[in-house]
Amino acid sequence: MELPSPASGELELLEYVPERDFTQCLDLMQGNIPRYFLAEDLSDFEQWLMTRKCPFFVCWLGNEIVGCGGYSLTPNATGRLRRGMVRQSCHREGLGSYLLCVRIARMRSEGVRDLYVDTSQHSEGFFLRHGFRVISRLQNGYGPGHDRVELHLHLPDRAGHSIDSPMLDEAWLRRANAKPARLRPGMHHREP
Ligand SMILES: CC(C)(COP(=O)(O)OP(=O)(O)OC[C@H]1O[C@@H](n2cnc3c(N)ncnc32)[C@H](O)[C@@H]1OP(=O)(O)O)[C@@H](O)C(=O)NCCC(=O)NCCS
Repeated sequence: MELPSPASGELELLEYVPERDFTQCLDLMQGNIPRYFLAEDLSDFEQWLMTRKCPFFVCWLGNEIVGCGGYSLTPNATGRLRRGMVRQSCHREGLGSYLLCVRIARMRSEGVRDLYVDTSQHSEGFFLRHGFRVISRLQNGYGPGHDRVELHLHLPDRAGHSIDSPMLDEAWLRRANAKPARLRPGMHHREP
């Protein structure tokens, strides 16, 4: 069954629906190869999308998905970011931060206190910018030219107690529904 894609012209955050979003998500990753992902990551992502059980969100803008990301809850009040990515032509417009913020807000409400992500050195700077700290690094861990970098962010448990991050303070998290303003359908964004 083919579902209509949200085409209101506004950025829309929706829960992933396989029938509607599967192909677009693969296309999203494809556009980030080879700079951020290896070609073989595509079949791995395809498999993950087909078997995924964790929360996973997509951002539609006009007739295309411009970002996606999920998370899983792991033991002892920990969580892990899963498969976060932004369409390459929309990088550096605030969408990655928005998706991160939405997921952190949800994970906090589910009791997560320590958040982990693994990514490559090509996106490490994004997480450092949000207060994450590197806990391990494996050179070429994903494949040639793609190191595996594990990062951590502590989320304090007391309401009103700020996260140790230059960007993810409480006021910022309260704006988890404030979508990046500059993204418009069909807009030609600068290439990174
Ligand atoms: C990582 C990613 C999600 C960031 O998304 P984005 O929408 O470009 O990020 P934002 O525009 O919200 O950037 C927020 C801040 O992080 C910085 N930043 C973003 N990407 C960066 C990068 N690759 N390296 C260093 N800093 C980066 C921005 O400069 C910005 O800082 P500023 O406000 O001082 O300018 C995006 O680059 C991406 O999809 N990469 C490929 C997939 C990937 O590697 N995902 C990581 C998890 S597997």
